[in-house]
Amino acid sequence: MADIRRIGVLTGGGDCPGLNAVIRAVTKSAMFGHDLEVWGIEDAFLGLVQNRIRPLTNTDVSNILTLGGTILGTSNRCNPAEYFVEVNGEPQKRDVTDRCLEHIAHANLDALVVIGGDGTMSGAANFVRHGINCIGVPKTIDNDLEGTDVTFGFATACAVATEALDRVHTSAASHHRAMIVEVMGRNAGWIALHAGVASGADVILLPEIPYDIQAIADFVTERSRHGKRFTILCVSEGAKPLGGRQVVQEIDPTVPDPVRLGGVGNVIAEQIEQRTGVETRCTVLGHVQRGGTPCPADRILGTQFGHAAIEALMAGKRDRLIVMQGLTVTDVDILRAADTQRTVPVDHPLVRAARAVGTSFGDPPPHAATETADVESDYRTVPG
Ligand code: F6P
Repeated sequence: MADIRRIGVLTGGGDCPGLNAVIRAVTKSAMFGHDLEVWGIEDAFLGLVQNRIRPLTNTDVSNILTLGGTILGTSNRCNPAEYFVEVNGEPQKRDVTDRCLEHIAHANLDALVVIGGDGTMSGAANFVRHGINCIGVPKTIDNDLEGTDVTFGFATACAVATEALDRVHTSAASHHRAMIVEVMGRNAGWIALHAGVASGADVILLPEIPYDIQAIADFVTERSRHGKRFTILCVSEGAKPLGGRQVVQEIDPTVPDPVRLGGVGNVIAEQIEQRTGVETRCTVLGHVQRGGTPCPADRILGTQFGHAAIEALMAGKRDRLIVMQGLTVTDVDILRAADTQRTVPVDHPLVRAARAVGTSFGDPPPHAATETADVESDYRTVPG
């Protein structure tokens, strides 16, 4: 048995459906099962830097299972090892880990439950190196965390994206248009792949499979020849043309993940229209994929993960990430998930199944000469 009496819990990175389900499960399992105290850290690691840490009661975590967002608040702007302060109007990096360690000691926290994605796990890795026991819980709508088959939040994001694709389907058919839905996912195409397959999208574009714009145009034209006067395209925000670059909305060097993707859907819409004459529209789904009520699968997964985090702690485990492998909840070294991204293998069974039912991934016909990409952007690779 571990000598643990009080734990801290924080949510880091982008908000994600199911965060409150995890906070609830962590707090109730700890209180009811092990008589532990749970303290909530506000706004991710920022709360550790600024000493915003407060006890959580059963009342605090009642009635939050179905609630979107996070009752603790979150931030994707703070890694204490590389904390930005303004010096003479210029942002400069400082390591404020020691300040956080003091606040952890002052609050008598024996361990931290850190709920987040790869950036948050890299923040946790810093505390692990300073001797703080951190148990990670994998969160992200992108489903791109190493070590786990699935993250909570992904199922809800896919459900939202699928519904959007279903809705544009009838509009596209009525107007004889090509319709693009751009979905989130950063450099991983999991949301696009799953929502695209679930909605029967005709074209799915993933960051992992660079597309050939002429192949897509030919596909749209070919469909019209066979009486299908509309085309549905599900495009990942990280999709890029063969030999080309991703479309970047913004680069903010003061955040741990400085590259904000977005806009490729509109670029492709214009190109399809030019090349085929088919009227094309694009809907960028954005943060509606992240907000709102979690679907049942994410409530269940969040509850399982939160409970497993407490069980791992009480079994004396240190520095583990709770994961789902197959149908089993287990744990792996937390460092495995820090700053790495699990992308879609190009021969993933779901990619093969989609191809088998006639879905295009925008790749050129075999042996065809491909043209140079005409998407220009100031893309830079994601550090880490
Ligand atoms: O990682 C989750 C995610 O929603 C990505 O899919 C997206 O690229 C990014 O966060 C958007 O970040 P922000 O909320 O800072 O706009």
